Amino acid sequence: MMETLSDQITRCLSHPVFQKVAREAAAIGSNVYVVGGFVRDLLLGRDSKDIDFMVVGSGVELAERLSKYRNFSNVQIFKTFGTAMLRYGELNVEIVGARRESYDPQSRKPAVESGTLEDDLRRRDFTINALCISLNEQDFGQLTDRFGGLKDLADGVIRTPLDPDITFSDDPLRMMRAIRFASQLQFKIDPVTLAAIQRNRERIHIISMERITEELNKIILSSQPSVGFRLLDQTRLLEIVFPELHALKGIEERNGIRHKDNFLHTIKVLDNISPNTDNLWLRWATLLHDIAKPQTKRFDPENGWTFHGHNFIGTKMVPQIFRRLKLPLNEKMKYVQKIVNLHMRPVVLAEDTVTDSAVRRLLFEAGDDIEDLMTLCEADITSGIREKVVRYLQNFALVREKLKEIEEKDRVRNWQPPVSGEDIMAVFNIPPSRPVGTIKSVIKDSILDGVIQNNREEAWQLMLKTGQELGLVPQPGTEVPFNRNENIGKD
Ligand code: CTP
Repeated sequence: MMETLSDQITRCLSHPVFQKVAREAAAIGSNVYVVGGFVRDLLLGRDSKDIDFMVVGSGVELAERLSKYRNFSNVQIFKTFGTAMLRYGELNVEIVGARRESYDPQSRKPAVESGTLEDDLRRRDFTINALCISLNEQDFGQLTDRFGGLKDLADGVIRTPLDPDITFSDDPLRMMRAIRFASQLQFKIDPVTLAAIQRNRERIHIISMERITEELNKIILSSQPSVGFRLLDQTRLLEIVFPELHALKGIEERNGIRHKDNFLHTIKVLDNISPNTDNLWLRWATLLHDIAKPQTKRFDPENGWTFHGHNFIGTKMVPQIFRRLKLPLNEKMKYVQKIVNLHMRPVVLAEDTVTDSAVRRLLFEAGDDIEDLMTLCEADITSGIREKVVRYLQNFALVREKLKEIEEKDRVRNWQPPVSGEDIMAVFNIPPSRPVGTIKSVIKDSILDGVIQNNREEAWQLMLKTGQELGLVPQPGTEVPFNRNENIGKD
């Protein structure tokens, strides 16, 4: 039998956290409601670990009483804002006093006054987030829907409860949130709300980059991110928050030859990769893989449009973009740079005859990120011609086979040089200097090109030979490596 809406709510409210909040609110004579995203997600059948309670009265007093229970932990009370955050097992609980907000248009800081249930719901962002469920004795479990949120949930519509100019001007981040919800939930934005986003787009400047990027990340992680990016473009927020991506838009034609629209291509690739990875940073790499195409675009009458070096210039753009978007400038960024840098390499391999040495070099450079790189390359096939797609995929399957075969044989994926800099310095009795680097590169290139095997003995012989060619003299007794049969490589 299908569960009705009220059964669904009753089942959910049987969790002890609701009972405790209800009991303590009753004890201080205040009405309390579950509100916002938790209610929306409950009705959509989505799991949520964040619960917002709205109390018509003092949020601080309620939080103080709850903090006496053992199950509530990590209690943080913000007296000035009248809010509190607590943990209950794996749940994040937030308590706010019902508010009425009056805004001074000159100021970014709202003047907050306590208000009624109605006041509080009016000032929320979207009708689907302005639903609440009572925890009060007289109507426990009753759903309040002042702004048609239930219908909008059923129709898949994002709409503001008030005139959208007011809702967005109160908090311009909501423009990004509208687009993020549309992308996450696969909803449409109501045309009046959508037009208001475009009209108010410049107000986004007063929002911190961190908060904007948080929404961008959620769009990127949604199951069909192109929905969000199309809306960002349509509302012209894209050119404000992400000008580099906006610059990918457009098609040029010369001598009857057109190139593709790289913005549409990029968001298609992002959609393609989404079923195969939830790694935010691989998704970022996907979004940025062609970011330098506008800078590198040339028209050559013989070859048509070319974008030579776009991977290289793109790699250099990543830190600027990460810095502006307040994304982490750490190993995550380095990973994105690496994938952007290497994203053409498997394509070249798939088009040419695959030589062992080219595969070895790719394995060496990509290391453990080789799988992610291949996942991007496969998603990067956006041709509308079926035969072409099938052919490319077959070629990539061959590349994957070859990668496996070479890795099993040569173990270069996490390659460590079989002869170290210290070895070279000891053998020739020289300080750290240029010849050490030269010898190391000769050994590395010879292994990757298959001239010598990846083992200490052959590398040792090559070190002696190269050193002597450079005029260096080995110390007596260093003709053979110390462990004759030692094979260096990954197990
Ligand atoms: N809210 C709002 N305006 C904002 C942010 C939040 O009106 N700029 C309100 C909405 O009613 C929202 C609730 O506060 O549902 C909780 O906000 P938040 O936890 O940020 O978002 P959720 O809606 O819960 O969604 P998610 O957890 O996916 O971010």
